[in-house]
Amino acid sequence: EKGTYPHYMLKEMDEQPTVIRKIIQAYEGDNGELTIDTAILQALQAADRLYIIAAGTSYHAGLIGKQYFEKMTGIPVEVHISSEFGYNIPLLSEKPLFIFITQSGETADSRQVLVKIKELGYPTLTVTNVPGSTLSREADYTLLLHAGPEIAVASTKAYVAQVAVLALTAYVTAQASGKGLEFDLKQELAIAANGIQTMIDSKDVLEDIAEDYLKIARNAFFIGRNVDFYVSLEGALKLKEISYIQAEGFAGGELKHGTIALIEEGTPVFALVTQEAVALNIRGNVKEVVARGAYPCIIAMAGLEEAGDRLVIPHVHELLTPLVSVVPMQLISYYAALHRRCDVDKPRNLAKSVTVE
Ligand code: M6R
Repeated sequence: EKGTYPHYMLKEMDEQPTVIRKIIQAYEGDNGELTIDTAILQALQAADRLYIIAAGTSYHAGLIGKQYFEKMTGIPVEVHISSEFGYNIPLLSEKPLFIFITQSGETADSRQVLVKIKELGYPTLTVTNVPGSTLSREADYTLLLHAGPEIAVASTKAYVAQVAVLALTAYVTAQASGKGLEFDLKQELAIAANGIQTMIDSKDVLEDIAEDYLKIARNAFFIGRNVDFYVSLEGALKLKEISYIQAEGFAGGELKHGTIALIEEGTPVFALVTQEAVALNIRGNVKEVVARGAYPCIIAMAGLEEAGDRLVIPHVHELLTPLVSVVPMQLISYYAALHRRCDVDKPRNLAKSVTVE
């Protein structure tokens, strides 16, 4: 029930800090440490490569998940769009583990891959929000997102839940394999939950940004590097899906290889700056688009901000920035859609779960 909320999407965005806290509780063992089912842990440790298969927003969460597994566990990861993978299966490693990320657990494109992979006899894990869903029933193992029902077509709280559960799974696997990790994920997730709350409490500012940048825009760009690139893809998808403004997420350094031709006087460019190692590079990319007339909206993490940035997001562990940086993208898209009188919860041409291939 959406209660006093005008839209499910707004309610679901507001629930995001609670979702993170619920995930911490759900995956806490008796000793208070984060843990996952032993059989799943063994399957992860036995794999020589992980294949993440997903669509849409879940694919974007998978791109972040790859970073987590590779950085924390050292297990190589490939991330694939489900509708492509099943009809063009790449060379596989000797001991692959397939991870299906799907909010609904019903996406036909992802299910067709699961069916094919089962025929090949490889182990499968579904990460889903819906217990008992088709992909959960048909896979060997399931990890639940604990986000509660997501009704709005635009996925918000499921995305942050996916990112958090992938971080937690990678962290627990790394710990079990004796990899020294120098941070306490439980604590860092709690800090990220507070960071999300700060963004949610900044709705007025985000509504102003939507008004300022997107009221009359025909198109918009989202740029970032490293994980900020992946969050840019998600920001662009959110904006397209509910406001119908044409948007593209781009790797900051790649724009100048062609796409920069689309920048005109006043074109909105949202740039994320949360990764210290590439902060100067992305700021350089912003200068390149500004020189062509773009109207930049720099969203930087505290500690990396500079005068003139439009929004500063709270400081969180550098691996967990997507949990917080996606929230302004979601809220800016929401207000842009509202200002254009779009049907936020049920955008045209879309269904909540895509059950046809
Ligand atoms: O239920 P799934 O996670 O498998 O759904 C995948 C996509 O259809 C979904 O994420 C879609 O992109 C959302 N509407 C995005 O907001």
